[in-house]
Amino acid sequence: MHWIRLPLADGLHSKQAHADLPDGTFEREVGKEGFGGPAAHFHHKHPPTGWLSFDGPVKPRALDFVESKQQVSSPWQASVMMHNAHCEVRWWRLAESMPALARNSDGDQLLFVHDGVGELFCDWGHMSIAEGDYVVLPRGCMWRIEVSAPLAILMIEATEAAYRLPEKGMLGPHAIFDPAVLGRPLMDDAFRAQQGETETRVIVKRRGALTTITYPFNPLDAVGWHGDLTPVKLNWRDIRPVMSHRYHLPPSVHTTFQTDRFIVTTFCPRPIESDPGALKVPFFHNNDDYDEVIFYHKGNFFSRDNIHPGMVSFHPSGFTHGPHPKAFAAGAAHAKKETDEVAVMIDARDPLDLTDAAFKVEWTGYADSWKVKKD
Ligand SMILES: [Fe+2]
Repeated sequence: MHWIRLPLADGLHSKQAHADLPDGTFEREVGKEGFGGPAAHFHHKHPPTGWLSFDGPVKPRALDFVESKQQVSSPWQASVMMHNAHCEVRWWRLAESMPALARNSDGDQLLFVHDGVGELFCDWGHMSIAEGDYVVLPRGCMWRIEVSAPLAILMIEATEAAYRLPEKGMLGPHAIFDPAVLGRPLMDDAFRAQQGETETRVIVKRRGALTTITYPFNPLDAVGWHGDLTPVKLNWRDIRPVMSHRYHLPPSVHTTFQTDRFIVTTFCPRPIESDPGALKVPFFHNNDDYDEVIFYHKGNFFSRDNIHPGMVSFHPSGFTHGPHPKAFAAGAAHAKKETDEVAVMIDARDPLDLTDAAFKVEWTGYADSWKVKKD
């Protein structure tokens, strides 16, 4: 099967995408399959985000997860903020150690620790987790967290699927991050010390419903293991992002984990393009095949105004988006030489539904935030 793919051009245009744009124009990409398929780059007279008003389901949303303050001791009580058949996103504040073990039988679970410190105990042993860590928990893994400092965790379930690493192709297997930097649980003294004949509950989630299994002992009682499946952790500080000084690379180059129907990408601090003709902020685009969710973890997000750590932007597919006017102007002037943002993006191939819990913490001014403010 082949795409209908004819490289063509018409009117005033640049030869290279994202570079040497005709003076005063705004580039918009319309493309297939995220950033990997056929695409057209239009050069517009006006910014495609220069709308007067925006009303209807394609409206972009900004959610302030920081405002969701409920603390619960089980991940399955944490609020689901958005979901589809392949992905479920929860926001979890854990202030006290988990009294029961959790097990997800719906799919692999990814935790991103936004804040806090904890000790994770699971079938494979013990590992410490802290701010900035991704933790991949294979489906079926029994686990619990002992809290050292209250945790705020973004949880992303790959429903009926598994997390894998992306193809690194020409970059080679050690680029972006070397698999050797991945941390894993170990059967250490702390793990052995928590074993014993204490009555223990395991709360299993399957098809969204909870089942409680009670043992007269702690079932995290393995004395050893072998195999090639294990939970892993990765801190964003161990990611060495790919960049080009002459070309604004699409967000997909920052893919950290991949599942069947969505990817998780990490935006880490990096230099900004230095070539005079290269675009220095993300290009305007629709991303017509994907819903985009960005969780802002740290720093100043360089292409957005009015966004602080702990906030989430939701751009449904079909929503034309791009940098905010101030960020666009700063990009054009090459005012910033590097980004200091850390953000986690979920690019979902299927439409996501936002829940009431998400709408409760919505910042409703988001769609109007692209408007140029008149002094
Ligand atoms: Fe986008």
